[in-house]
Amino acid sequence: MTPDLLEQGAQRLRGRQAGSGGRQAGFGRVAAAGEVDVTHGRILYLEGVSVSFDGFKAINNLSLDIAPGELRCVIGPNGAGKTTMMDIITGKTRPDQGTVFFGSTIDLLRYSEPQIARMGIGRKFQKPTVFEQLTVFENLELALKTDKGVKSSMFFRLHSEQSDRLAEILQTIHLAESVTRPAGTLSHGQKQWLEIGMLLMQDPKLLLLDEPVAGMTDEETARTAELFLSLKGRHSLMVVEHDMSFIKSISEIVTVLSEGSVLAQGTLEQVQNDERVIEVYLGR
Ligand SMILES: Nc1ncnc2c1ncn2[C@@H]1O[C@H](COP(=O)(O)OP(=O)(O)OP(=O)(O)O)[C@@H](O)[C@H]1O
Ligand SMILES: [Mg+2]
Repeated sequence: MTPDLLEQGAQRLRGRQAGSGGRQAGFGRVAAAGEVDVTHGRILYLEGVSVSFDGFKAINNLSLDIAPGELRCVIGPNGAGKTTMMDIITGKTRPDQGTVFFGSTIDLLRYSEPQIARMGIGRKFQKPTVFEQLTVFENLELALKTDKGVKSSMFFRLHSEQSDRLAEILQTIHLAESVTRPAGTLSHGQKQWLEIGMLLMQDPKLLLLDEPVAGMTDEETARTAELFLSLKGRHSLMVVEHDMSFIKSISEIVTVLSEGSVLAQGTLEQVQNDERVIEVYLGR
């Protein structure tokens, strides 16, 4: 090939690069299996999501996103759609419209509830659901055995990496001293922590927590705030709560939901001073 043909080819190539904005990376990015692609700065992305129950729009054109490692607080009046939003993210409820993505590449609307849980979205419902007869240790151990079938559960043994994780989580959830206690003998707050520990055993990338401090004592609430602050960064968290002093102790960005969509978003101070938020929620 002659040098001028080579030069022409090089020029065409330069022209094409300019046409794609001169990007070095793009469509050819290699996605590692089991990894969530957060290169666009989002672990969760909802756009134009709506769902109706018997003609009532519980979620109405809802759009929001969450950054990797973020601790997002969501507040709003009863019936605003906070729990329904979590139902949609976790695959329990299918929206009528809209887009729900986990990272940039995983379209959550294509997956079932168990598949979504296995991908790394953990959910904590309001009521603690621990196995009361089993010890704290056994509950945490059991959290690793989900979907493995009875036979493999019977012969299941923790390998060393898992026992290290279990020990670390026991510290994180403040239950190291109660490891042999049956879960049924724990306080309400301790049961909630145990359930959070069970979620952590699966090392979720995103944790959805619905009213985690409801029914807790002030001391338990303060410890839960510490716990959540220690989890952010390593995990992304979405926390729904009505307890405003708790929200104050953990919040960065607060999203206010009302009538199924985002009414306001910002720091707690910003949303607390927003006239519309005061009218529909805080001023009650
Ligand atoms: N499966 C369902 N079938 C019918 N209606 C539903 C269903 N799930 C939720 N709703 C309705 O959707 C609306 C939103 O409910 P949702 O539980 O999401 O509110 P919320 O913001 O979590 O309220 P709260 O703060 O009281 O927990 C409510 O009017 C509720 O009755
Ligand atoms: Mg709710």
